[in-house]
Amino acid sequence: MKNILVIGAVGQIGSELTMELRKRYGNNNVVAGYRKTEPSEELAGSGPLERVDATDVDKMVEVVKKYKIDTIYNLAALLSAVAEARPQAAWNVGVNGVYNVLEVAREFNCAVFFPSSIGAFGPSTPLDNTPQDTIQRPNTMYGVTKVAGELLSDYYYKRFGVDARGLRYPGIISNVTLPGGGTTDYAVEIYYEAIKSNKYTCPLPAGTFLDMMYMPDALDAAIDLMEADPAKLKHRNAFNVTAMSFDPEIIAAEIKKHMPGFTMDYNPDPMKKAIADTWPNSMDDTCAREEWGWNPKYGLGEMTIDMLEKIRIKLGK
Ligand code: SER
Repeated sequence: MKNILVIGAVGQIGSELTMELRKRYGNNNVVAGYRKTEPSEELAGSGPLERVDATDVDKMVEVVKKYKIDTIYNLAALLSAVAEARPQAAWNVGVNGVYNVLEVAREFNCAVFFPSSIGAFGPSTPLDNTPQDTIQRPNTMYGVTKVAGELLSDYYYKRFGVDARGLRYPGIISNVTLPGGGTTDYAVEIYYEAIKSNKYTCPLPAGTFLDMMYMPDALDAAIDLMEADPAKLKHRNAFNVTAMSFDPEIIAAEIKKHMPGFTMDYNPDPMKKAIADTWPNSMDDTCAREEWGWNPKYGLGEMTIDMLEKIRIKLGK
């Protein structure tokens, strides 16, 4: 029997992951943990809801005991651009928060999912076909917290036997909850702006290749990894996972196939460009494929059709 707590349940990934977990494990077995932003009616109406965040250990312990939680998905984080603006807050949530979750998991024997990121790499990492095990010297606070989280998760597994598992997510593209202040957000915004105004001004220059993934694959990745046979996992934490790699020109050309009048120009944001330049152009995710069967369903073409259709409905266009 799984009793799950999602921390960060109103965020970009958390909002959809909570609903998917409820579908698979039963509404009452998945607690949505949130901090400030009020949850949607769907989230609040479909199962248990608690005001609990990664930085409040006492509340976390109370919720874990109350619902007999055995698995924690810790989605709380400040995305890369926001983390550069607020590095102290990013450390508090991304390192102290991860430590708190692992400590609670140790004490109450919970499994833990930790989302790392392409941000865990840096300028000295090989940026093409980035290997699973390679140099990680990120120069952003976001990256520092993600490397710390990967190492802490590995440590808690080895030292205390906590069943901690994780992925290095690429940019996640979705149409339910907007991402909040990441470097890869442009690949979400471009679809909304295409539908709203048929044009988009891109904050990253042409030629900036980054790994990306559509939300349904991101949800499957987390749940499949947590369900994987532990005997087959050599890495456990921080698996490279990717579904596609493109630059702004390529995604714009894909949108144009469906909206011939769509145009894009550029106004690069120096901070986002500097961050993106230190992240992989494309990751090698062979270990995830071999160790737990990672196999994404959506490429750029299928994702673009679905995004345009869903956003049209959402915006009534
Ligand atoms: N989407 C994240 C960001 O851009 C990367 O993990 O910050």
